[in-house]
Amino acid sequence: PSSVGILACELYIPSLYVEQSALEIYDNVSKGKYTIGLGQQRMSICSDHEDICSLCLTVLSRLLDETGVHPQQIGRLDVGTETLIDKAKSIKTVLMQLFVDHDNTAVEGADNINACYGGTAAIFNAIHWIESSFWDGRYAVVVMGDIAVYSKGSARPTGGAGACALLIGPNAPVVFESGCRATHMAHVYDFYKPNLNSLYPVVDGHLSIQCFTSALDTCYTQYCTKSQMNHETHTHTSTLTSREVNLSTFAAVLFHTPYVKLAQKSLARLYLNDLIRACPYIPTAITEKYKNLDIRTLLNDKDLEREIIDQSKELFEQKTAPGLYFSQNMGNMYTPSLYYSLFSFLMSQPNEEQLYGRRILLFSYGSGLASSMYSVVCRKVHECRFTLAQLQRSIQRAGHRLDHERVEITPDIMDKLLLEREENDHKVPFIPKQPNEILKSGDIYLKSIDKNYRRYYDKF
Ligand code: ACO
Repeated sequence: PSSVGILACELYIPSLYVEQSALEIYDNVSKGKYTIGLGQQRMSICSDHEDICSLCLTVLSRLLDETGVHPQQIGRLDVGTETLIDKAKSIKTVLMQLFVDHDNTAVEGADNINACYGGTAAIFNAIHWIESSFWDGRYAVVVMGDIAVYSKGSARPTGGAGACALLIGPNAPVVFESGCRATHMAHVYDFYKPNLNSLYPVVDGHLSIQCFTSALDTCYTQYCTKSQMNHETHTHTSTLTSREVNLSTFAAVLFHTPYVKLAQKSLARLYLNDLIRACPYIPTAITEKYKNLDIRTLLNDKDLEREIIDQSKELFEQKTAPGLYFSQNMGNMYTPSLYYSLFSFLMSQPNEEQLYGRRILLFSYGSGLASSMYSVVCRKVHECRFTLAQLQRSIQRAGHRLDHERVEITPDIMDKLLLEREENDHKVPFIPKQPNEILKSGDIYLKSIDKNYRRYYDKF
């Protein structure tokens, strides 16, 4: 199979949100800390009839409805999440409800878990299946989602929620570029969930940012070296075209986005890498000052950070900012965060023809830690019903829900909902009590949990 990539997608937009400016007042922090310091506008909140399975069921069921793909045409389903409700039973098995009624139980794949990286691990599995001798010609689907909540304190405004389903197969309009992928994995306690009775992570926020940044450096160096080697030795099989890779190679440069400001800092950080490498798109008069620096020694230099953020503003506006619309208005979605950035970028481009042949660089980070950098390329499809324009239309539908169909709640209601979620976590039997009016037709919601912890869902 050639040109394996994303054929179609479906995004979840939680029904409730809180304004970050209201949260600043409520939390009694200085005005601008969340809206300017973190760069966030709104944060998605889930009601008590939304749980991780209802989010994943909803996007998968909508993906099947919207694309008209019959459940029997799916041969693999991988899930990425870190919102665990069971230590053994995967969310993938819950999603099988949508297949069993259609006489399809032959669906490979299970859950992938490592903080925000699980979605990327799920995608890699789906690609590998299609490219392997085990592929039976059917589509793969990847579903990823999380309800990101933090205990009260400085991390709480970096919560959020979201889920998406991706239809993966050959002859796609957004192709995973072959031949080049960078990975950096290590053992760190920056963000983890060791307390199995708690919804909340244990998090060392500043350590997590340092780990994120050095993983970014390592992956970028590896990606650039590999793609250059790849170009030199495998030009005939690779889709990579330019010899030296740097920020100017890509139409967009997108990151896992816990909050918008970190994406801006990350773009600036890659620009610093390019400065030190004296990449030809930057005038020599500028690179001169940086060319002998050692990037590894520059993790906590705030003055330098400000300087390069300033210098890379235009690159940020072009290549990263168009990818931040969902993140800025929904918050950190953990596993799907990077992919919402990809959706946001694709939605921002009015003319799909201009995207053909353009490459997009993606950086995935999950604490603990697991990280990868890879790229996708947009293409005009031939003899395939899944086009880039269609992909853009599904994202625009989600954009419309985001802009027009959400309900604002106040920070004290948000606190109340989070407290109830905490208290009801693993309490059985359970029946959600919030009104269903906020649900949209086609949403799958949690109806009840019985005394044996079995969850029941219904379609609205
Ligand atoms: N106006 C403008 N900017 C402000 C204001 C203000 N009134 N007040 C503070 N700021 C700036 C700060 O200067 C700082 O900027 P800097 O990042 O350039 O230094 C920024 O706002 C944040 O302020 P801090 O004091 O650093 O914030 P705090 O330490 O309270 O928390 C943190 C921030 C660490 C990100 C916290 O929210 C957290 O722990 N989040 C969860 C962990 C996380 O998201 N990690 C990212 C990678 S791992 C993952 O995805 C889970």
